[in-house]
Amino acid sequence: MTHKPLVLSGMQPTNTLHLGNYLGALKNWVRMQNEMPCLFCVVDMHAITTDAAYGKPEELTRATREVAAAYIAAGVDPARTPVFNQGQVPEHAELSWIFNCVARLGWMDRMTQFKEKSGKHKERSSVGLYTYPVLMAADILVYKATHVPVGEDQKQHLELSRDIAQKFNNDFGVPDFFPQPEPVITGAATRVMSLRDGTKKMSKSEESDLSRINLTDDAEAIANKIRRAKTDPLPLPDSKDGLKDRPEAENLLNIYAALADQDRDQVIAEFAGQQFSGFKQKLADLTVAKIGPVTAEMRRLLADPAEIDRTLKSGAARARAIAVPVMEEVRRRVGFIQ
Ligand code: TRP
Repeated sequence: MTHKPLVLSGMQPTNTLHLGNYLGALKNWVRMQNEMPCLFCVVDMHAITTDAAYGKPEELTRATREVAAAYIAAGVDPARTPVFNQGQVPEHAELSWIFNCVARLGWMDRMTQFKEKSGKHKERSSVGLYTYPVLMAADILVYKATHVPVGEDQKQHLELSRDIAQKFNNDFGVPDFFPQPEPVITGAATRVMSLRDGTKKMSKSEESDLSRINLTDDAEAIANKIRRAKTDPLPLPDSKDGLKDRPEAENLLNIYAALADQDRDQVIAEFAGQQFSGFKQKLADLTVAKIGPVTAEMRRLLADPAEIDRTLKSGAARARAIAVPVMEEVRRRVGFIQ
C-alpha cells in the first residue's frame, strides 16, 4: 500500500527565530505547501525538555505565539495548512507512550543529540529529553506523514521514526499501517553560519546577538549586524575556488544568493574583486528588503495574540481530524478497550 503524501514539520518555541530558520526551513515549507498537503506544528511539548522553557510558562506561551507568527509571516497560509501547537493535540502524547514501548533502549542510547544535550551529566537530564525522539516519531506518525523537512541534525531522529514505524507494523501484524517517513533535508545549500564565526552554525543559543539576524530585528539592527559581520582583509573572490578557507566570505555570499534566489556562482561573478564594504551595503539592503516584510508581518500578528490563539485552535482541530481516527485504530490494534 502506498501512503498519501503528507508533509509534517515543526520547530521548538525556544528563544527567537533567526535568518537561518527562515532560509534553511521556513522558505522551503512555504514552497512545499504548493506541492503537497502540509501540517506545521509548534512543538511546545518538546520545548519543555529545555531550560529555556521548562518552568517558564509565560515565556513558553510567548515563544509559541512568536513561532506561529513566524510561520505565517514567512508565507505559510493557515487557511490551507494547519498551524498548531503540539500541546493542543493530545494524540501526540498518547502515541508517544505506545512508541516508548516500541522503541528499544539500545536504539535510544545511540542518539547523538541526546548525548550532546545531556553532556557530562546524563543522570541529571530529564527522562523527557531522553525520549524526545520518540515524541518526534509520534508527531510524524500520528498523521501518517510521509515527508518531513528537517535539518541535517535531525536525520538520526528520522531514522528512529522509521525503525519505530516498522517495528510497530511488524509487532502488531499490520504491514504498512505506518509509512516510512522520508526526511527532506532542507537548507543543505543554505546552511546559514554565524556572522561572528563562519565555521559555526547561526544559532539561537550563541551568546553574541551580533552573530545572528533575528526575525524580530528591525531594519537598523539588521544593517548594523551585517556591517559588523566578520570578514577577512581580501577582496571578494572571482570563483568558488577562491572561497577555500574563507568561511565568512562564503557565508555572506551564500546568504546573498539565498535571499536573492540566485545561483551562488552568479553572485560570485557579480561581486568578483569588490571590497566587502560595498558588498555588505548591498547585502544589508537585500536582507532588509526580503526579511523586513516578514518581521513587520510578525510584529503585526503578535500585536493580536488572541487572533494567533484562534489560528492555533483551528489548526489543532483540523490536525486532530486526521490524528483521531489513526489513534482509534492504534488503540484497537494494541488491544485497548475503547
Ligand atoms: N526535533 C526537531 C528540531 O529540533 C523539531 C521537531 C519536533 C520536529 N517534532 C518534529 C521536526 C517533527 C520535524 C517533525 O528541529
